[in-house]
Amino acid sequence: MILVTGGAGFIGSNFVLDWFAQSEESVINLDKLTYAGNLENLTTLKNDPRHIFVQGDIGDAELVGKILAEHRPRAVVNFAAESHVDRSIHGPGEFIQTNIVGTFNLLEAVRAYWSGLAIAEKSGFRFLHVSTDEVYGSLAKDEPAFSETKRYEPNSPYSASKAASDHLVRAYHHTYGLPVVTTNCSNNYGPYHFPEKLIPLMIVNALAGKSLPVYGDGQQIRDWLYVKDHCSAIRRVLAKGKLGEVYNIGGWNEKANLDIVHTVCALLDELSPRSDKKSYREQITFVTDRPGHDRRYAIDARKIERELGWKPAETFETGIRKTVRWYLDNQGWVSNVQSGDYRKWVEKNYASRA
Ligand code: NAD
Ligand code: DAU
Repeated sequence: MILVTGGAGFIGSNFVLDWFAQSEESVINLDKLTYAGNLENLTTLKNDPRHIFVQGDIGDAELVGKILAEHRPRAVVNFAAESHVDRSIHGPGEFIQTNIVGTFNLLEAVRAYWSGLAIAEKSGFRFLHVSTDEVYGSLAKDEPAFSETKRYEPNSPYSASKAASDHLVRAYHHTYGLPVVTTNCSNNYGPYHFPEKLIPLMIVNALAGKSLPVYGDGQQIRDWLYVKDHCSAIRRVLAKGKLGEVYNIGGWNEKANLDIVHTVCALLDELSPRSDKKSYREQITFVTDRPGHDRRYAIDARKIERELGWKPAETFETGIRKTVRWYLDNQGWVSNVQSGDYRKWVEKNYASRA
């Protein structure tokens, strides 16, 4: 079996669901269930004996040690993190705690477990660390996309905390020989994406008749990948990735934020038109920019394609259509995640933006 951390979040829950669509191998899912963790994403696994859910913190080395000793997984896939840049600006403490200290404690527990394994199990073991392209910083318009050798230049408390975790993972390989692989992926989108992030927020706000808040001039560029393609890349790296290596994951889909919002509006105009027949574009408002906002991310995904034969299955056009449809078909999921806490966050983040 494998241990997945953060498997009740956006990417983690998609990963767990996709894992069982491809494999009979069991998963222990360790998740703290912060505001971003949602067991409703995994209701189809409720009576599935292959899925063992444990509520807990990756920073709780004693708990992690117990889980490892009891279940003896052959791999750990570490998704658990605080993931939202705007929240890291309002309150960086949790990011330092989970992304840095939590990853450190997790690595220590895994190192202790791995050191005690028999030779064959030891060499087959993997620690796959899921990271982000944001560690590489911001690109100018004409700079080449991020390759695995790009210098780290994180600009937000979130990306700095992820960069620190990447360095710890690397150090555990070089110093202790822990068999690690790290992935750095671009922006994901798809089902179960928490509506604090750009794409789901725009869909949810549009349908609720609310404004669509575009930061600054909306010309910041992100490189978008459908979440299930990220999951297939992680499975490939877990199976075939070389120890100690880093793989950048992306779909060659650079888009300006405003274009993303226009695309979402056009799909909603087609699939769920406003009662007054006007376009959802009418709801777009330009608001105060994010402090330290990175201008452009782009992933050079040639290494994973060349060395591991991985390519995304979705284009942006097919993936975004599936995503908008998913939100239209799952409005119950959306209203369940819009709890009091969610409303407080929206108030805090957007009230001060002119
Ligand atoms: P998310 O915020 O949706 O989910 C994070 C999950 O981790 C939640 O279920 C949460 O409860 C859990 N968690 C948080 N702190 C924990 C702790 N201390 N112990 C155990 N569980 C904890 O995040 P996501 O978007 O699914 O991202 C998952 C991973 O992928 C993160 O490491 C993130 O940095 C990375 N990543 C995300 C993207 C993206 O576009 N979303 C892109 C590249 C990389
Ligand atoms: O690049 C990978 C990263 O992508 C991940 O590591 C992060 O976990 C993930 O949250 C995401 O970070 P971003 O900051 O790029 O995603 P977000 O959805 O918050 O914002 C995308 C872009 O949209 C960004 O340029 C800011 C802008 N934006 C965002 C929100 C929430 C807006 O213009 N308006 C908004 O209301």
